Parts: sequence; structure tokens; C-alpha cells
Amino acid sequence: MDDATLAIGEETIELPVVEDSEGGRAVDISALRSTTGLITYDKGYGSTAETESAVTYLNGEEGILRYRGYSIEDLAEKSTFLEVSYLLYYGTLPNAAQLEDYVETIRRHTLVREDMRHLFDVFPADAHPMQMLASATSAMATYYPDALDPLDPVSADISARRLIAKLPTIAAWAFKHSVSQPFIYPRNELEYTANFLNMMFSLPVEQTTPSPAVSKALDVLFILHADHSQNLSSSAVRLVGSGQANVFSSVSAGIHALSGPLHGGANQQVVEMLDAMLADGGNSDSWITRAKDKDDPFRLMGFGHRVYKNFDPRARLIKKYARDVLDEIGTDDPVLELAMELEQHALADEYFVERKLYPNVDFYSGIIYRAMGFPAEMFTVLFAIGRLPGWLAQWREMITDPNSRIQRPRQVYTGATERPYIAMDQR
Ligand code: SDX
Repeated sequence: MDDATLAIGEETIELPVVEDSEGGRAVDISALRSTTGLITYDKGYGSTAETESAVTYLNGEEGILRYRGYSIEDLAEKSTFLEVSYLLYYGTLPNAAQLEDYVETIRRHTLVREDMRHLFDVFPADAHPMQMLASATSAMATYYPDALDPLDPVSADISARRLIAKLPTIAAWAFKHSVSQPFIYPRNELEYTANFLNMMFSLPVEQTTPSPAVSKALDVLFILHADHSQNLSSSAVRLVGSGQANVFSSVSAGIHALSGPLHGGANQQVVEMLDAMLADGGNSDSWITRAKDKDDPFRLMGFGHRVYKNFDPRARLIKKYARDVLDEIGTDDPVLELAMELEQHALADEYFVERKLYPNVDFYSGIIYRAMGFPAEMFTVLFAIGRLPGWLAQWREMITDPNSRIQRPRQVYTGATERPYIAMDQR
């Protein structure tokens, strides 16, 4: 691959160009500062890679998403969430014995330490479950002092499996706390997603039996959220982990990053936006106008993406599941029709077409979650459960990379140049 030539005044330097396994190319500027004193500037990293990665490939122009080379369409149809979690973390599809061992280990670690229950007592009932989830995840590190060394593969593996096993339990307990209901414990005879649904919706006085169709649909939704390369929350996990903080602290940072309305918090914002539109008579015209108005901070939530300049392949699949799940549950949520009408309206509007703003993963997911009985405050928690295997896979790739370095970006300084201290009576 020919080098890139950078001309700086009279001087030119050659910079190596690296090619990735899908033909993408990058200029390696690692030596730029040491050879020229120059740094580069790229707000929001729109054109900058911090790492090589073999975990997930996404092509925003063509709407392609693959985990370890397998398309999400294939995995959604043929795999399970725990199998995808194994695939992302270890890089290969497990054989029968490996999958059995993985599923069994997860099953045996779904219980959290009993004294963790008291952690929830400190939160007000209206605390957002994402805040409780991040706090409890961070607190988990205090229970396993012997397994916190991120550089020890055995500790890393058991910590990763503990997190996959316990996050649904913590999530369900955060919900139960918010509705002042007794906590429901995991039941080892249930498979992963059904176990979570049981902890969410059962009561000590009445066991609910999760419908297999709903459990399967949620398992598929978890698969579709499982990883997305260097998104904000995965980057947060890598950044915190690059200083060799333990994996619980790194994942807690990822949960906090995901909670923002521009990232994972969008799925809750979408349903609240659609409800507001319905309450406003269901006419999306004025909302589309607002979304286009530079002076109005309102954005069409669930639309647009840093990478996808085509349909988000996950949105396409989730839209299909939305109708199936609502029919299966026998509920008819008017916001689904409104969402589809809004999508058509936006995709016919020059503003959205010009900027290549399409529905993203968050546009339809909340409609399904609500039909399943989840309150809007739990939607991003569901995103976190789904994304956890991706965070762990990205973290493991970073921590096992022999060339990994602590992440410490440079800056373009625009502050005051040196000036003398001013005594109080001179100010
Ligand atoms: C996720 O990175 C990932 O992979 C994330 C994710 C994952 O799986 O991890 O895919 C999950 O976070 C999905 C995104 C969920 N967020 C939302 O739905 C919130 C609404 N969308 C936007 O805020 C926005 O589109 C972002 C944050 C998703 C992307 O922002 P960018 O890449 O910084 O794009 P931008 O803000 O520079 O927008 C480009 C233009 C701007 O207009 P101009 O200044 O060029 O005139 O498009 C406009 C923006 O104003 N624009 C929108 C819009 N999104 C972008 N205008 C109206 N409504 C929108 N939703």
C-alpha cells in the first residue's frame, strides 16, 4: 500500500497507509508528532481510529453489521444471545461442549451477594435504573478482590462471566426497587432471557410464566444490541480499562456512557417523543419542522447515526419484529403506526435525505419493550444487558493487546498565554 505524503510548508513526510480486512484504509500518524512536532485535530473522532479491532465490522454506507464475521441477520435467526456472547468474547462459535460449559457457568453465577440488596435501599424509588445499574456494577468489584487483576486471564474470564450472569439480576432488582416490590431471585431451571423476564415480572405471590415467543424476541433484541465496534460506551470501557482499572469499573463507565440521550438513552426518548406526538394529535409535520430548525434543540430521536448513512440493519430487523411481537402479545400500540408514518415522512424530506438520516437501532426497539411490559425507564437498561458482551469483548481485546497503551488524547490549546498573578486589590 503506497504511503501517504503530507506536505507541511517546504517539507514533506511519508506516512504509512494501513489496509483493513474489508479494504478500508487508514493513515498511521503514530509517528507524526515525534517526526514533525505536529498533532492532528478531529472533533468527535469522526475520522480517527484509536485501535485495530477484530470484533465487529460495520459498513455505514452499505448498512452491514457482522460480529466476528457473522452477519447479524444470520445470528438473529440461528443463534442465541449467550452463544453470541461467547462468540464476541472468544472470537469463535463454541462447539457443543464449550457452549454447555459457558451456559452452565452463567447459570451458576446469576445470584448476586445477598448483602448487595442493601445497596438499593440508599436509592430513592424514582432513581433512574441506569444509575442503580452502574452503581451496583461498580460495587460488584468490592466482592471479588481476588479476581480483579485485569492482566490475569483466569480472573478476567470469571469476572466477564459473572457480569453476564448477574447484570440481568441487578437490572430486575433495580426495577423492583423502583416499584417497591419484593426482589425475585433467579431460577436456574429457566434459560437466560426467561430467567430475566421472571425476575422482572413475577411476584412472591404469583409466578408469571414468560411466553416463549416474548423470551425469544427479547433474546434476538439482545443479539442485535450485542456490539457495535467503537461506539461511545465501548470506547468508554476501553478508555477506562486502558489504565488497568478492573473490568467492573470499566463496564460501569460504559453503562454511564450509554445512559446519555444521544446514545443508548435514545430508545426511551423515542417512545416519549412518539407519545408526545400522539398527545399532540398524531401529526408529525410540526415535529419534523422542529427537528430541522437549527434554533430548536429538538432532534428526531431514533434518527441519524455517526456511522450509518444508510438504513441501520438492526432497525430494519427490529421493525420487522415489532409487528410480530405486538401481534403475538395481542397488543396494538398506536405509536407503532405513528413511528412507521414518521419514518416515511422523514425519509421523503430533503433535510433527512441530504444528511442521510435514517432510523437507527433505537427507533423501534422501545415500542417492542413497552409491548413486553417494560416501563420506559428500563429501555436503556435492556440496551445495557444486550451490549454487555460487546463491552467485554472490546475490553478483552484491549487488555490482551501487547501494544495497548493508556489512552491520553492531545489537545489544541486555546486558553490564555502566560500572565502574572493579580493581587486581590487589583482585580
Ligand atoms: C446509538 O455509535 C454507535 O454505534 C451508537 C449505537 C450503538 O449501537 O452503540 O448505534 C447506538 O447511540 C444510536 C444513536 C441514538 N441517538 C439518537 O437517536 C439521538 C438522535 N440522533 C442524533 O443526535 C445524531 O444523529 C447522533 C448523535 C446519533 C449522531 O450525531 P453526529 O454523527 O454527531 O451527527 P451530527 O450531530 O453532526 O448531525 C449531522 C447533521 C446536523 O445537521 P447540520 O449541522 O449538518 O445542518 O444532521 C443533523 C444535525 O443537526 N441531525 C439531525 C438528527 N441527527 C443529526 N437533525 C434532526 N434530527 C436528528 N435526529
